[in-house]
Amino acid sequence: MKIEEVKSNSKSQRIASHSHVKGLGLDENGYAIQTAAGLVGQELAREAAGVVVEMIRCKKMAGRAVLFAGPPGTGKTAIALAIAQELGSKVPFCPMVGSEVYSSEIKKTEVLMENFRRAIGLRIKETKEVYEGEVTEITPAETENPMGGYGKTVSHVIIGLKTAKGTKQLKLDPSIFESLQKEKVEVGDVIYIESNSGAVKRQGRSDSYATEFDLEAEEYVPLPKGDVHKKKEVIQDVTLHDLDTANARPQGGQDVMSMMSSLMKPKKTEITDKLRKEINKVVNTYIDQGIAELVPGLLFIDEVHMLDIECFTYLHRALESSISPIVIFATNRGKCTIRGTEDIVSSHGIPLDLLDRVMIIRTLPYTQEEMMQILGIRSQTESIHISDESLQLLSLTGTNSTLRYAVQLLTPANLLARINGKDGIGKEEIEEVKKLFYDAKSSAKLLQKFDDKYMK
Ligand SMILES: Nc1ncnc2c1ncn2[C@@H]1O[C@H](COP(=O)(O)OP(=O)(O)OP(=O)(O)O)[C@@H](O)[C@H]1O
Ligand SMILES: [Mg+2]
Repeated sequence: MKIEEVKSNSKSQRIASHSHVKGLGLDENGYAIQTAAGLVGQELAREAAGVVVEMIRCKKMAGRAVLFAGPPGTGKTAIALAIAQELGSKVPFCPMVGSEVYSSEIKKTEVLMENFRRAIGLRIKETKEVYEGEVTEITPAETENPMGGYGKTVSHVIIGLKTAKGTKQLKLDPSIFESLQKEKVEVGDVIYIESNSGAVKRQGRSDSYATEFDLEAEEYVPLPKGDVHKKKEVIQDVTLHDLDTANARPQGGQDVMSMMSSLMKPKKTEITDKLRKEINKVVNTYIDQGIAELVPGLLFIDEVHMLDIECFTYLHRALESSISPIVIFATNRGKCTIRGTEDIVSSHGIPLDLLDRVMIIRTLPYTQEEMMQILGIRSQTESIHISDESLQLLSLTGTNSTLRYAVQLLTPANLLARINGKDGIGKEEIEEVKKLFYDAKSSAKLLQKFDDKYMK
């Protein structure tokens, strides 16, 4: 095999419509930089979002709600995702779309409750007895298979661990060898093994190996200090929903009878209100004892106008609860009837009493200049070549219809360009895809024109 054939497999991600957004792009004083972190313009909304991030970080905002309101394609979803990026992976973030609540199997409020609990984290600190260090050797010792046959089995594994203070060789059970393989531990990795459960955790690669390659996204950690065998504070981040599901599983024994009976039972166990209450109780005692800490996260409900009055009432109550995440809504609706009611009209399709609680952040339509910048960023993330002239033309299309329509034309236009044997999008391709795909407005116009031709 030639070297050129070996590709790094970390980069071939799917490009989703918001993958160019890396953060809010604010300076150290919280002011928006015109183009930064993949975001363009919309300065006021981004600055407001920055304040929200700050409030979440200081834990000053539990049980509050924010609403992003603005016309389609003005970056509401993009900015909400940027907030999640700013908060980092340690703060739970649960995105959902309003229409998700409509399922024939689960109650609407149940879906909401589940997502609420996905957005509340718990950081559990435990002191555990561990063996920790940089791996210097992994040698599985093989013996003849006791069952006969020709195969060999691992009888034990010798592992060498090094810390700044010394090295130690351990003789471990073969089951630990399996978990070492599962975590893909190699010589030079820093790991720890919990001494009573035998769980192996790979922390990263030792930083003495750091200069080897810099192709992959590898986390480098320093050589651990102290002895190999020691007590270590282990921090675990879970969400309340993780705890719910972990405890909802049927807890049978390992013997044949209980396995048979759990086969007979329906597979899916439900998380009941009773179970949640139990878990809350346990969590509260953990918090009181100082073992655990609550990390209120972020629940993002996009297209919130899809919720109905029952959901809104439930939301209102859930926001009052003492352990509630911060909730961010987004909608592109103006005045409309609230779902599930006959004729109650309200702005954004949200009941007035809930609307009264939320802080509203507006997003405004983009100028042609800004659209051009966004389209430029998009074509870069999709690795599409496009001339400045066609970018101009496309942004004009965007101002006449919506930004999303213009963004969506990029991919088919690129395809056309390739068919035409070019390596970039030109004016012709834009003109052609505009003829092939209609935007909502011109499609509606066509509908009106040929109204009598359609079925009624
Ligand atoms: N300020 C911006 N900077 C960079 N990209 C943006 C910006 N605003 C929007 N986009 C991109 O434009 C596209 C449309 O934006 P987005 O989906 O956020 O709109 P929206 O306001 O949520 O619309 P809708 O109301 O229809 O849901 C997305 O690909 C988004 O990433
Ligand atoms: Mg959206």
